[in-house]
Amino acid sequence: MNAFPPLPIYTGFNTPLRMEVDIHDLEVEGQVPEGLDGIFYRVGPDPQYPPRLGNDIYFNGDGMVSAFRFEKGRVDLKCRYARTDKFLLERDARKALFGAYRNPFFDDPAVEGRIRGTANTNVVYHAGKLLALKEDSPPLVMDPWTLETRGYYDYEGVLTSETFTAHPKLDPHTGEMIAFGYSAKGIASPDVAYYVIDRDGKIVHEVWFQMPYPCLVHDFGVTRDYVVFPIVPVISSLDFARAGRPTFGWDASKDVYLGVLPRRGSAKDLRWFRTSNLFASHVMNAFNDGTKIHFDTPVAKGNMFPFFPDVTGAPFDPVAATAHVTRWSVDYAGGEGIGFEQLTTLAGEFPRIDDRYAMEAYRHGYICVSDRSRPYDEKRAGSITGMFINCLGHIDHATGSSDDVYYVGPVSSLQEPAFIPASKDAPEGEGYLVALANRYDEQRSDLLVLDAQRLQEGPIATIKLPLKLRNGLHGNWVPVEDLPPRPAGA
Ligand SMILES: [Fe+2]
Repeated sequence: MNAFPPLPIYTGFNTPLRMEVDIHDLEVEGQVPEGLDGIFYRVGPDPQYPPRLGNDIYFNGDGMVSAFRFEKGRVDLKCRYARTDKFLLERDARKALFGAYRNPFFDDPAVEGRIRGTANTNVVYHAGKLLALKEDSPPLVMDPWTLETRGYYDYEGVLTSETFTAHPKLDPHTGEMIAFGYSAKGIASPDVAYYVIDRDGKIVHEVWFQMPYPCLVHDFGVTRDYVVFPIVPVISSLDFARAGRPTFGWDASKDVYLGVLPRRGSAKDLRWFRTSNLFASHVMNAFNDGTKIHFDTPVAKGNMFPFFPDVTGAPFDPVAATAHVTRWSVDYAGGEGIGFEQLTTLAGEFPRIDDRYAMEAYRHGYICVSDRSRPYDEKRAGSITGMFINCLGHIDHATGSSDDVYYVGPVSSLQEPAFIPASKDAPEGEGYLVALANRYDEQRSDLLVLDAQRLQEGPIATIKLPLKLRNGLHGNWVPVEDLPPRPAGA
């Protein structure tokens, strides 16, 4: 028996692709801007084998990396599995050996102590290396042109954390990568390791500290002068793991903290700011004006992750899970309170920016929007993760407007976009958004290219795929001038 169970996460549009493809010159409707020269990388879960325990959460699938190569108005596609240790061990065994999401207690004993990561969350290019990332593991290096896996990477033995965030931040001015690992000494440990990695890929600064309680720290904020760690009570516990429930659970009784550290500070410089319970996950951007630090992220009243259920057994509340981009403000030299300002009426998650303006005051933000007031075919296009995305929105922080919104239609949904500048020196926000659209009626995907300041006009190019790419997580645009020369035959 080698069959996926007939569950929503393995059937219909979510049927694992399990296919590595090369397609030269995808069909294009409209016009891909001729000047776009680079690769849009994205990654998502695509399980190689049926789940060992008969079920799993969607986010535990093996990482499948897609590379869309843009050149002279044409687009080629390459998809390759991130060949993690898990992937290779299971391929050899011809079955799943790892049991549950970030829970080693139900694994085949043959894989005890092996790196459990799936490299399915983000794909980031830094210092000549394409890194496929999962926050429970070290980075997995892949070739940026061939997508061949080179293996896990510990920065020449300098990476001391067992884990490495899937949301490192690239400093557009210094070329540094700012990163951290949480659960840095193992599952449910309260330890965080913070790293500055220079433009050449060398770890040049490291700080260890402990969180107020062990929890999921999926993303963080970086400004010119500070790093900001949001501590939100998606708590983690080895007891949960041993009991066979997800290692993470939502605890509405706990406070929320922001840990703020000067970028080159030490553990004694870490300051904690505190507020009452709320939910936040992804970060749009962060910046500071002197000691005043601003941190922009979608905020919801309650848990947005139904796959990590409430620790009291309370049911998932989709209304409380509605998030709005909100600015948190603290003063590193002031009191421990946090100020809040909601920045938009658009409800959504997966925020993006023009990454050339990361870490500083910025004008343009983009967000995946859930708008249930628009026509929506719940039966065909319904969400399996508790979120659905049917619009892309532009938040103009200068005018306060969120009026420019693209709606994808009733039988489609969208994946996270990435921003591509029109040119290296184009003003902030002048460029394009690329985003995958899931076409549920055709069981197929399109990659859409939209003018980032005229979203409501719809795609200027629709790049048509003859296959579907399951819902992924994150991706990034890398201009060709940042990549190594293309090897012959790649
Ligand atoms: Fe993420």
